[in-house]
Amino acid sequence: MIYLDNAATSWPKPEGVVKAMEKVMLDFGSNPGRGSHQGTLGVGRLVLRTRELLAQLFGVPDPSRIVFTGNATQALNMGIYGMLETGDHVITTSMEHNSVWRPLKYLERRGVELEAVACDHEGKLNPADIQSAIKRNTKLIITTHASNVTGTVMPIEEIGKIAREHGIFYMVDAAQTAGVIPIDVEKYMIDLLAFPGHKGLLGPQGTGGLFVGPRVTLEPLIQGGTGSSSELEFQPEALPDRYESGTLNTVGIAGLGAGLEYILSEGLDKSYQRETLLCQSLISGLEKVPGIKIYGPRAREERAPLVSVNLGQVDANEIAFILDRAFGIAVRSGLHCAPQAHHTIGTLRQGTIRFSPSSFTSEQDIASAVQAMSEIAKELQG
Ligand SMILES: Cc1ncc(COP(=O)(O)O)c(C=O)c1O
Repeated sequence: MIYLDNAATSWPKPEGVVKAMEKVMLDFGSNPGRGSHQGTLGVGRLVLRTRELLAQLFGVPDPSRIVFTGNATQALNMGIYGMLETGDHVITTSMEHNSVWRPLKYLERRGVELEAVACDHEGKLNPADIQSAIKRNTKLIITTHASNVTGTVMPIEEIGKIAREHGIFYMVDAAQTAGVIPIDVEKYMIDLLAFPGHKGLLGPQGTGGLFVGPRVTLEPLIQGGTGSSSELEFQPEALPDRYESGTLNTVGIAGLGAGLEYILSEGLDKSYQRETLLCQSLISGLEKVPGIKIYGPRAREERAPLVSVNLGQVDANEIAFILDRAFGIAVRSGLHCAPQAHHTIGTLRQGTIRFSPSSFTSEQDIASAVQAMSEIAKELQG
């Protein structure tokens, strides 16, 4: 199989990820932060190590501000519900994933004012539109870092600056960029950064996290046992325990740690250059296919490494089915859980076919994808 669906979840994983997970299962298998025996301390060190690696990757000075979750969706919900209250105004964009859009629409019914700034047909956002949307009661700006439909990279540095100047919190959905495009939370003035562990960070499914900046105090969505301050009747204030109740996914976190070690040793800049080059060669190959339409900006630096296309008026799911069955190529098709983005670029009815490489994708994989699309186009025309 040629796997070009890394924007959904990355595969394959580095060998070290599988080994690290196996090691926890075989050698530790204990509950971190619960007691003082060798097993709990050993697995506790592993969890801390992954937290530290995440802090290093995102430029976070205090690793305890990294909170583990099961995926990006949980992290986004933790930030959104933990911060917004009736009467608050929140600004977002028309390119958001349902993991942002649905909680916001739910809160809108409960008296939170929601404003979605419109992006253009390539998914691009004008930061001036964010500035104009700010009101007296604006509490939070939340944007994706890169669209999972078009790959369009948002101007997060400018938005962070606008938010900070107005004393507003800024939350970034880094589902498509964590481990793919360098992120520095201090430089970009990000207060909340939600990320999955299972995509660009090369960890297993069931991992993700939220960076909670020093200016922010969230209401914890889940409360319970933290292994700390057990004498207290209320949730401890200390981080990360305030937001991490219940037994952690230690096996997954160990795997995520190994994924991070791989990324940091390979160099994020290097893998980003490689993946975006693969996308450029995919785009230039696909451009020659009759009937193709390619979405999003053309410039390499304006997109995350994913490419969405359509062939004529054919339903995207139909093409993806043929790619899989006739050519052994796995891609994502349909609306990618982001109907707002499809509405913005005009593909709500047809959806799009999305190709997303990883650092394990070869030039040959890309050439095969182009060849397959050419053959499908020829067949459709004939
Ligand atoms: C932009 C964006 N936000 C949020 C998510 C949700 O991520 P997860 O599946 O880790 O919850 C995704 C997943 O594809 C995404 O692409």
